[in-house]
Amino acid sequence: MTLLAFETSCDETSAAVVRAGEALSNVVSSQVALHAEYGGVVPELAAREHLRNLIPVTQTALREAAVVVGQLDAVAATQGPGLPSALMVGVKAAQALAFALRRPFIGIHHHEAHLYSPWISGHPPKADFEKFQPNVSLVVSGGHTLLVHVTTELNHRVLGSTMDDAAGECFDKTGKLMGLAYPAGAEIDRLAEQGNPKAFDFPRPMLHDAKDDFSFSGLKTSVRYFLRDNAGVLDDTRKIRDLCASVQAAIVEVLVAKTIRAARRLRVRCVTASGGVTCNRALRSALATACAREGFTLRLAERTLCTDNAAMIGILAERKLLKGESNSHDAEIAPGMQLG
Ligand code: KG4
Ligand code: ZN
Repeated sequence: MTLLAFETSCDETSAAVVRAGEALSNVVSSQVALHAEYGGVVPELAAREHLRNLIPVTQTALREAAVVVGQLDAVAATQGPGLPSALMVGVKAAQALAFALRRPFIGIHHHEAHLYSPWISGHPPKADFEKFQPNVSLVVSGGHTLLVHVTTELNHRVLGSTMDDAAGECFDKTGKLMGLAYPAGAEIDRLAEQGNPKAFDFPRPMLHDAKDDFSFSGLKTSVRYFLRDNAGVLDDTRKIRDLCASVQAAIVEVLVAKTIRAARRLRVRCVTASGGVTCNRALRSALATACAREGFTLRLAERTLCTDNAAMIGILAERKLLKGESNSHDAEIAPGMQLG
């Protein structure tokens, strides 16, 4: 079976060709530089860029995979959640192509695709579901922070989510307060490498709360007050590094502690993590240390598959199609879709 998949939920235009669990191509065109000027994603600009880029990105993906449109057995796209106008571009293009080819369309939940992305690895990326184990999964991105119990493949229950800002949003917004360009997560990661994570003491929101939910807006506010009272910090490179390391340490400690606690409570032996924030080196290393200590197997999404990409959409779509799932050619976009 050969599938074409699109991802256009936010600021990445991506197309991938997937066959038998393998991404034959995975082309990602990032709009990050365009939105950086505005300090965040501008939905209408994002949609316009998707419209401009989707066809060339798709042509490249087909060419790299050495596949022609007539060979496609199905077309998939991220159906939600995401920016409505951005989702519309990928979903409507996928549906139109699937309809014209008389092939099924599969709408994919963006977070569900991230959730299963740690099971994709190698070059070219290939699904590795035969190694699947029941797990507790952390999905951390710019728009979402979820803790999920995955019992069997494609069966999962959300344990907790963020009550306000997502972890990536916290990185991006605190970075903005420090004067860093959007999105600031990767830059905080880089600056934190040479900083002291214990230099400044920031709150660990909901660390000891019995629920599996997260909250990061209070941490962002405490960074705002810290900078109001210590404005000179931003004039000192060493102190900026310490600030980045201290903020990062607060976010990472909460994410890791709550993930490990849920894994222990649910008696799973495996932990997975995915989404853009999983690129963060401190998070990867803290999860590795904690999982080694607890005797858990850890599966981290590969860095190139942490941020938004169509390979994870296509690989999940193929699994669903094999189980007989597909959607109507005029199914609506689902910007506010929740993970079940
Ligand atoms: O999954 P993703 O590409 O898009 C969403 O679905 O949101 O994640 C983007 C998020 C941004 O908030 C970005 O700052 C964050 O991932 N991010 C990082 C790092 N790389 C990307 N956060 C912390 N450390 C990083 N190295
Ligand atoms: Zn994402």
